Amino acid sequence: MIIDGKKESAVLREEIKKEIISIKNKTNKIPGLTVILIGDFAPSQIYVRNKEKNSKEVGINSNVIKYSKDVTEEEVLKKIEELNNDKDVSGILVQLPLPDQISKEKIIHSIDPSKDVDGFHPVNVGNLASGYHAIVPCTPLGCLLLLKKIEKNLSGKHAVIIGRSNLNGKPMAQLLLKENCTVVITHSKTKNLKEECSKADILIAAVGVANLVKKDWVKDGSIIIDVGINKHGDKIVGDVSFEEVKNKVKAITPVPGGVGPMTIACLLKNTLECFKARLT
Ligand code: GUN
Repeated sequence: MIIDGKKESAVLREEIKKEIISIKNKTNKIPGLTVILIGDFAPSQIYVRNKEKNSKEVGINSNVIKYSKDVTEEEVLKKIEELNNDKDVSGILVQLPLPDQISKEKIIHSIDPSKDVDGFHPVNVGNLASGYHAIVPCTPLGCLLLLKKIEKNLSGKHAVIIGRSNLNGKPMAQLLLKENCTVVITHSKTKNLKEECSKADILIAAVGVANLVKKDWVKDGSIIIDVGINKHGDKIVGDVSFEEVKNKVKAITPVPGGVGPMTIACLLKNTLECFKARLT
């Protein structure tokens, strides 16, 4: 089975749109998302344009603030403080990567955790790790929602994650632990990566290496979630060799059209949650 991320994303975005209309009718208020984009890194420009378009479509007031690549850290921090204090701003997202003169750590720490729609602030990271209410990073949240469409009860499943990033691997592990999976996080120094992957009931590939996972790396009947977005010649491919793996597994996400569309939908979901938390 091929998991249709586009379709699931459309369903979720429709639910969000309806909820925003319903709240607007009662309160005359709508959520606001401000994205800060620094420099001219082409993929970031595309991602931000997409976030803006999707936000507007569900009725979120989207605002993009652009800076040149040589903006000072001080100027960006000042803007974030202003946004933290702006009651019309429900969510703040600073698009990564950042230029060298700007500290990612300082930027992430400066965002009000209750407006941190990326879920990158240590307060949200810590709350997620402790099993408390947290804003969850959009990509792993999207992966979990897709997984749960295939398998409602993940308890006791052996989950293997390739990649240990703060964006994907680590929060994914926390989410799967909460679902009572047995979780293994693998990375570039893992010995016998193939053998580790072949034990997985659920395999999450989030490593950024085109077509890394081959047919003999995956277990019969497993579920494969491919987070990779890699340029391969003139094509975009995932971290999994989709064509050779797809007939061996129970379900797999394609690239494109799998996790990517869910990430955007989850950003809208997080923005709505941040907005609702401020309504009272
Ligand atoms: N750059 C690539 N992915 C992301 C993301 O999820 N959030 C932010 N802020 N920047 C990114």
